[in-house]
Amino acid sequence: MRILVTGGAGFIGSTFVRRRLRSTGDSIVVLDALTYAGNITNLAEVEEDATLRARFRFVRGDIADAAVVRSLIGEIDAVVNFAAESHVDRSILEADAFLRTGVIGVHVLLDAVRAASATRVDRPIRFVQVSTDEVYGAVDVGASVETDPLVPRSPYAAAKAAGDLLVGAYHVTHGTDVVITRGANTYGPHQHPEKLIPLFITNAIDDLPVPIYGDGLQERDWLYVDDHADAVGFVLDRGQSGQAYNVPGGGPVTNREVTRAILATVGKPWSLARSVPDRPGHDRRYAMDGSKIEHLGWHAKVAWDAGLPATIAWFVANRDWWARVRSGEWNDYYERQYGRRLADSVPA
Ligand code: NAD
Ligand code: TYD
Repeated sequence: MRILVTGGAGFIGSTFVRRRLRSTGDSIVVLDALTYAGNITNLAEVEEDATLRARFRFVRGDIADAAVVRSLIGEIDAVVNFAAESHVDRSILEADAFLRTGVIGVHVLLDAVRAASATRVDRPIRFVQVSTDEVYGAVDVGASVETDPLVPRSPYAAAKAAGDLLVGAYHVTHGTDVVITRGANTYGPHQHPEKLIPLFITNAIDDLPVPIYGDGLQERDWLYVDDHADAVGFVLDRGQSGQAYNVPGGGPVTNREVTRAILATVGKPWSLARSVPDRPGHDRRYAMDGSKIEHLGWHAKVAWDAGLPATIAWFVANRDWWARVRSGEWNDYYERQYGRRLADSVPA
């Protein structure tokens, strides 16, 4: 298969590219705008391996740029769309780019897939939209199923939900071959340090405070990145056209429990943990029912107890990677997001 992977220089997309090239004979073209979150060194392992490199091409570009997308689509069998602005806190500070990529970008990709598929009806292009549990909104009790209404509560989640709705509309209106994955909160090597787990690991390594929003009793269902990437590949190969598939993690963990585990494993005291003013509209809990993808034959392989220490070990061993990311634009972001909060913080 020849796959166009958008957002393939990011955290989950690059993991998908590395694992898919190693486990199949597929060819991959990555289209990535290399925003602040994109990192070409995430694909160094591919560039450095002659057998992988032979089936790989990188194109820098924007998924909302129709000319670029059309120029690539003719040669491919499937599009896997990881490209998005992916951080809730940044969507609260400034949402424009979330909408441009999450709505216009998804529309441009779908329209290119529709047009190219119309000229080759025997081999339509499959479109995989990589979505999130956050489209269901906060789930106080129970677990979301794929047919639940979408009730997003942050600008990030609203842009992702808009993408899901467009994908569904192209399937109904144009018969486009689409599938959607809705992954849980993901963690692992190569994650941008703006997100909870890598932020707290890298802060702890450097003896900086770790800022817990509100009471820290919010729950997330953590999914290891290799499992998330493999689930996307599984749905690409086996998902039924027009369907969405939840991809849950290993069960709920509170942010306080995450913090405790990170500080203990890095060997730092609880006194680094600070309670800071809460995130506006903070979703209390996410939880998904995974029966649909399990009935199709997929289940997660990496338990939290194994995934978290492996992630911490990676960050300890790869200071060069994250020190580069935590420089330049990072300092302005950190000050904007945490300056006032940390000044107002109390022991957690
Ligand atoms: P990320 O921020 O690490 O990577 C996003 C990538 O997309 C970057 O390489 C960036 O340069 C690229 N990009 C952004 N806008 C683009 C544009 N207009 N055109 C081309 N490329 C663009 O994100 P991630 O954590 O790897 O998430 C990947 C996908 O998975 C996203 O769609 C996200 O919504 C979804 N998801 C993430 C999680 C999670 O916990 N990280 C959970 C569920 C779903
Ligand atoms: P995050 O990694 O931003 O993922 P999401 O908001 O998409 O779930 O945050 C995970 C949880 O951690 C969420 O409840 C917010 C919380 N959090 C903090 O308490 N402090 C922080 O500095 C960050 C980044 C997140």
